[in-house]
Amino acid sequence: MAQGGRDGFTSTFGALLATLGSAVGLGNIWKFPSLTGSNGGAGFLAVYLAATILVGLPVMIAETMLGRAARADAVTSFDRLAPKGQWWWKGIGWMGFAAALLIMAFYSEVAGWVYAYIFKSVTGEISTVDPKVAAVVFGKLVADPTSSLIWQWVVLGVTGVIIAFGVSKGIEAVARRLMPLLFVLLLVLCVRSLSLSGAWQGLAFLFNPDFAKITPAVVLTALGLAFFKLSLGMGTMLTYGSYFRDDQNIPATAARVMLADLSVSLLAGIAIFPAVFAFGFEPAAGPSLVFMTIPAVFTSMPGGVVFMTVFFVLTAIASVGAILSLLEVPVAILSQRYRMNRKLAALTTIAIIAVMGCPAALSQGAMANVKLFGFNPFDLFDFLSSNVLLPLGGILICLFVGWVVGLAGPERRLSVDGSLANRVTIRTVFFLIRYVAPVAIAIVLLNGLKLF
Ligand code: PHE
Repeated sequence: MAQGGRDGFTSTFGALLATLGSAVGLGNIWKFPSLTGSNGGAGFLAVYLAATILVGLPVMIAETMLGRAARADAVTSFDRLAPKGQWWWKGIGWMGFAAALLIMAFYSEVAGWVYAYIFKSVTGEISTVDPKVAAVVFGKLVADPTSSLIWQWVVLGVTGVIIAFGVSKGIEAVARRLMPLLFVLLLVLCVRSLSLSGAWQGLAFLFNPDFAKITPAVVLTALGLAFFKLSLGMGTMLTYGSYFRDDQNIPATAARVMLADLSVSLLAGIAIFPAVFAFGFEPAAGPSLVFMTIPAVFTSMPGGVVFMTVFFVLTAIASVGAILSLLEVPVAILSQRYRMNRKLAALTTIAIIAVMGCPAALSQGAMANVKLFGFNPFDLFDFLSSNVLLPLGGILICLFVGWVVGLAGPERRLSVDGSLANRVTIRTVFFLIRYVAPVAIAIVLLNGLKLF
């Protein structure tokens, strides 16, 4: 079980599932549809797909490999692999530490909305196909400081309990068994959504690109989503890689995770957009989109309340894998690098997130007028992490692997000492990591931030 004396994933399949658990989460059900809707639809989807395949996949392979080679947390890994004297590389790990906290601050709020919707589903409060009524219900939840804060704290409390009692393995085992059910429910949603009158408009929105809508800011958002979705650029995959067995086929694992993750997002898109047009919702509604449209689709079918409740329960469970992987970055740094007791490290991290999460939770209510660079705190945390820190982390990881570590080591590691015949794949990935990904990310980042 132990990898170099450390705790680790006991099987290659377990490592695949944990990685998948990190990738699949609110990003698929909430963020992907919201961003696709507010950035013009199909054109955004095309850029997002290109970013995922050309940049996301190679970065995922590089990051996981780094972790497995160093067998350490996101900061210490760079200490171990960088040439003597080049201490600055560990800044990548610290950026990841910061990104994990920023993401958790708003992610826990969105998870809180999901928990709240489980109850609203049971009481019938969200059983409506009327965009106005749906907007009022969602607006009331997010504008009320007490409910916003309490639901966020419930999420953090549940997470704390999972960690303190060491039941995360159990939870993940449960999540794993239930995820196929979420997939089936998404399929049911798709069928219902596609059979609504006017569904084709939603499909056209999702699959018929209008490239005029693609601005540099849209391209940066798509790239940021690609990083966020696959949990890249901030040390999550590095930390998980450090628990991989030596014989794990990293390129194959990464490719499978990417394909599965894309499928879930696409299903969510097909479930949502036809309904958006059929019922007259606003595709550019932003973060509220999913919370209004999904209930509408369920409401329009027999047995909807039951299906809807199960759907939100499963989404809540799906978010656990992502949350645990977000926490793992700071927790591994505190407990492995600074020898803090693991439970204490987790609880300290959760406490910091509870404080940072307050402004995010109050962004649609009490703090709606607090703006920094034109963003409310929720949007600022999201923008800073997804559109700045993750792509920046991605560039640095590419430069580190491509130019500092060099090809020989990675080639040996990614082929498991030559036992996997994947030389062409590795060379292609390496070409993307060395040249294509860093240049592409740099251009998109500078352009998207209007720095160039
Ligand atoms: N990939 C997760 C999701 O889509 C979010 C996440 C981002 C998790 C970064 C870990 C690290 O829900």
